[in-house]
Amino acid sequence: MTEQILIIDGHPDPAPERFVHALADAYRDGAASGQHEVMMLRLADLEFPLLRTQADYQNGDPSQTIRRCQGLVDWATHVVILYPLWLGSMPAMLKALLEQVLRPGFAFSARKLGRWPVKLQSGKSARIVVTMGMPGWLYRWYFRAHSVRSLQRNILHFIGFRRVRATLIGNVAGLAGEARQGYLKKMRELGKRAR
Ligand SMILES: Cc1cc2nc3c(=O)[nH]c(=O)nc-3n(C[C@H](O)[C@H](O)[C@H](O)COP(=O)(O)O)c2cc1C
Repeated sequence: MTEQILIIDGHPDPAPERFVHALADAYRDGAASGQHEVMMLRLADLEFPLLRTQADYQNGDPSQTIRRCQGLVDWATHVVILYPLWLGSMPAMLKALLEQVLRPGFAFSARKLGRWPVKLQSGKSARIVVTMGMPGWLYRWYFRAHSVRSLQRNILHFIGFRRVRATLIGNVAGLAGEARQGYLKKMRELGKRAR
């Protein structure tokens, strides 16, 4: 089945040598080879203010950049979010983008149906890809992959995403050669299958 894939490259640093950028590009190339439609948002290219108040969150007028991001999330049937682990979690700038984009009225209804707000991004799937200095198993087992679980459960499932898979890539410092190529190959394969 052909998917509409939005890739969010959530690295705040535009430097081309950042591994997250290479992973995002590899996923995009794989998705294109699988005949999927692909759009890419690069956090490092975006300018937007920090969200500071609940009043703005609920009733504010998002900037043009944020509206464009919302349009892409609406369009997508599968969303891929890649980020480097910073202080155990996603970089603050990526969290700031999600706070701006996933507002009530867009991501979930402001009014509740029973106990829960209505999910407005229902039925979509996602993949989260996280790079980190520590071994991936350590983040998963000792730290319980808490940022990934938060993104999966507090954010994506809350707004209606159905299936959210994750890939943790550890020991990335100095990653080169076959190991690096292996991860890029894996991203291309995932992209091709829109997984
Ligand atoms: C501000 C900052 C905080 C970091 N915090 C962590 C951390 O908590 N745990 C960890 O394993 N790696 C940490 N790292 C290492 C990054 O996760 C790692 O350098 C990055 O995933 C490499 O991918 P990149 O080439 O795309 O930047 C940190 C790096 C920076 C710059």
